[in-house]
Amino acid sequence: MQFSTTPLYSSSTIWGSLRSTLLTTLSKPSSLCCSRSTSWTLMAAMSTTAEPITQKTCQPPLQVAKRLEKFKTTIFTQMSMLAIKHGAINLGQGFPNFDGPEFVKEAAIEAIKAGKNQYARGYGVPDLNSAVAARFKKDTGLVVDSEKEVTITSGCTEAIAATMLGLINPDDEVIVFAPFYDSYEATLSMVGAKIKSITLRPPDFSVPIDELKAAFSKNTRAVLMNTPHNPTGKMFTREELEVISSLAIENDALVFSDEVYDKLAFEADHISIASLPNMYERTVTLNSLGKTFSLTGWKIGWAIAPPHLTWGVRQAHSYLTFATSTPMQSAAAAALQAPESYYEELRRDYKAKKEILVEGLKSVGFVVYPSSGTYFVVVDHTPFGLENDVAFCEYLIKEVGVVAIPTSVFYLNPEDGKNLVRFTFCKDEETLRTAVERMKQKLKVSV
Ligand SMILES: Cc1ncc(COP(=O)(O)O)c(C=O)c1O
Repeated sequence: MQFSTTPLYSSSTIWGSLRSTLLTTLSKPSSLCCSRSTSWTLMAAMSTTAEPITQKTCQPPLQVAKRLEKFKTTIFTQMSMLAIKHGAINLGQGFPNFDGPEFVKEAAIEAIKAGKNQYARGYGVPDLNSAVAARFKKDTGLVVDSEKEVTITSGCTEAIAATMLGLINPDDEVIVFAPFYDSYEATLSMVGAKIKSITLRPPDFSVPIDELKAAFSKNTRAVLMNTPHNPTGKMFTREELEVISSLAIENDALVFSDEVYDKLAFEADHISIASLPNMYERTVTLNSLGKTFSLTGWKIGWAIAPPHLTWGVRQAHSYLTFATSTPMQSAAAAALQAPESYYEELRRDYKAKKEILVEGLKSVGFVVYPSSGTYFVVVDHTPFGLENDVAFCEYLIKEVGVVAIPTSVFYLNPEDGKNLVRFTFCKDEETLRTAVERMKQKLKVSV
């Protein structure tokens, strides 16, 4: 059984070199260091001269509250900065290098021109709440009240935070499946919750049922899951969802289901756990616009939950952001009116991209694990002989010119991810082909 409590970034050796590279990239610490009083004295002296005052001459030590002190700059920021520094192709962070649909962008421009520019209603502009409810009904068959059961947030990230802060108490236990999206651990840490992590292992990343059963206790408040799953591309099967449901019901626990990749399901039909018998009343379904409409920068998300759970989510949301961008919400409502053909085309395009990357990675010599959904694929890098995922990713950026994400950052125990790295295929086909070509030329399987 695998309940790890090791801090995420505890393995200082593997992070040391990456961190030092980053520090040089991200900051130029001042060589001068002075106390606040010296600094003010210096500024006062300068102000009596004809020279303009420019900048403070010292940099105070970084400060952060205890609840966040173990977290470093997110791996996505780190890798994207390194990509720029080394001119590497970024198959790391999951943002498309192509634009969202014209009709959605036009709708945003129209909304701005029409003066929809003041604070929105806290829980969402009515058109978007209705559009989210309508899409949920189409996808799951569940009829929800758009006014009482849908809350619009600033991306799924805020929906996750509002759900945790609004419904979890300090010391409550929350079960997560590792590898997990990195905001889960930081958010649960801000809440003061105890994390119980169940590791999904290759090749199929299936749920270890006995470990899951053993993880439940009288203190379990919730299970936080994600399907289709970032980073593995795993889609939870109906059988797995049934087990999670029956354990949640038996233990009177909630389920938080992050479904931001629901429309990027290639090999199986996406199933929302809320649609299973007796589950809606204990589930918060989390989603957003970014992945499906290639508009990750818009940060429009939502949480769907029965009124008694929506209450907690909205209480947190009210004091986190209160409301999210008004014109973008209007445009998001237009986006969700997209016909089924939009989603079919999206999947067709992504399937072609996936094939280029997966076949390419196999021909380079990686062990590629099957990915059924999302725009990610996880591979075993060990054929190339580097000691762990971070060392491999550093080599890949500097020597090959391609960025991948080391997966050890997605585990409580980084050791669990040391053989795996994640690539994304949300890039245009030429970029994917060029990245594969670079790897073919420069990566050699070690014998
Ligand atoms: C699993 C998962 N959940 C949530 C998010 C965040 O979504 P948003 O950009 O809408 O905040 C991401 C983004 O990569 C993700 O992969």
